[in-house]
Amino acid sequence: MENQNLNKTLEILKMELMSIFTILGFLFAHFYFLKFSKFLFHLIFKKKIDLKDKYYQTDSWAIITGASDGIGKEFAKKLASFGFNVCLMARNKEKTEAVASEIKHLSPNIQVASIICDFRFSETDDFHLKISSELSKFKDIAILINNVGMGLNGFFIESPWEEMRDMINVNCMSFVLLTKLLSPHFLSRGKTSLIINLSSYTRVNPTPFCSIYGATKSFDDYFSRVLDYELSEKIDILSFSPLFVSTNMTGFRKDFGAISSKEAVEGVMGEIGYKNQTYGHWKHQIMGFLLGCVLGWEGVVKWVIRKEWVQKMVKKEFYKARNAGKAFEKEEKKD
Ligand SMILES: NC(=O)c1ccc[n+]([C@@H]2O[C@H](COP(=O)([O-])OP(=O)(O)OC[C@H]3O[C@@H](n4cnc5c(N)ncnc54)[C@H](OP(=O)(O)O)[C@@H]3O)[C@@H](O)[C@H]2O)c1
Repeated sequence: MENQNLNKTLEILKMELMSIFTILGFLFAHFYFLKFSKFLFHLIFKKKIDLKDKYYQTDSWAIITGASDGIGKEFAKKLASFGFNVCLMARNKEKTEAVASEIKHLSPNIQVASIICDFRFSETDDFHLKISSELSKFKDIAILINNVGMGLNGFFIESPWEEMRDMINVNCMSFVLLTKLLSPHFLSRGKTSLIINLSSYTRVNPTPFCSIYGATKSFDDYFSRVLDYELSEKIDILSFSPLFVSTNMTGFRKDFGAISSKEAVEGVMGEIGYKNQTYGHWKHQIMGFLLGCVLGWEGVVKWVIRKEWVQKMVKKEFYKARNAGKAFEKEEKKD
């Protein structure tokens, strides 16, 4: 009799548990279905805003950092094609001048200026004064693209200190400096202004061998979103986190779903004015969404990176990339 009662209780418990799991499963599926529907709806039906109409006053400028190459160069070309005057900020004079001529040729009715500077010195007072004085020459600035960035890192324990320090200055301090210098102007303009901060997918999941790079990109994203809370009445602020883009920084790789700089910039144009955070291009939005559904990321990553062959491969790749960079710097100094 006692056994019968126990079996009955266990049966009821089993049924109850099954109902709970069914409800949880239903809610879980519902949550992802809603998330996915919202994502698809936005992707298909959103309308690009007219940037000139929203941000341009008279003779308005867009300031783009790291504009001599890659994503920054494409931003400059795109904004010039919309009728904004563009100011290119980068460290290599020849490359920057070549980009300036190319833009002038493509968009003859706008003005192009350049500020040659090395953002590794963003933390110094001299640099602050120089940039502040250069920017004060522009009557109206409507857009700031904080794009400049440097990559590489590798095993934290083996990464050179100078490289880590420079990375923090270039990837974080430059963003803070320019935003601090331009925000008072943005807040006093008649029209809304725009800031786009280049973050990266590495901000989402801690990525091994990118400890400093990933951390700087998390900083950029956090910084953007907090400023969006504080300043969104007068400034649209967008944190842009592409996945792989085929540029100098990624050794022009075409794998891992890499897109071109042109596609990356084209893709983010449709996101401006709608959100404060985006992966940009639709391919990266889909990849970002799917990666976001992966469970157990940390466990898998820890298991993979402890494999000896993975460690050897990573060391080799970073060694090659770092030495290629050093050879490039030597060539530049010779010139
Ligand atoms: N490529 C990707 O897969 C990817 C993915 C996510 C996020 N991002 C982010 O996108 C941004 C642009 O990356 P990218 O791939 O276009 O890089 P890139 O092709 O290497 O271009 C970087 C630009 O920054 C300039 N720059 C670098 N260090 C500088 C310094 N110390 N002072 C002044 N200018 C400097 C470079 O000038 P020089 O030509 O003189 O070197 C170049 O104009 C970065 O913030 C990066 O973190 C890139």
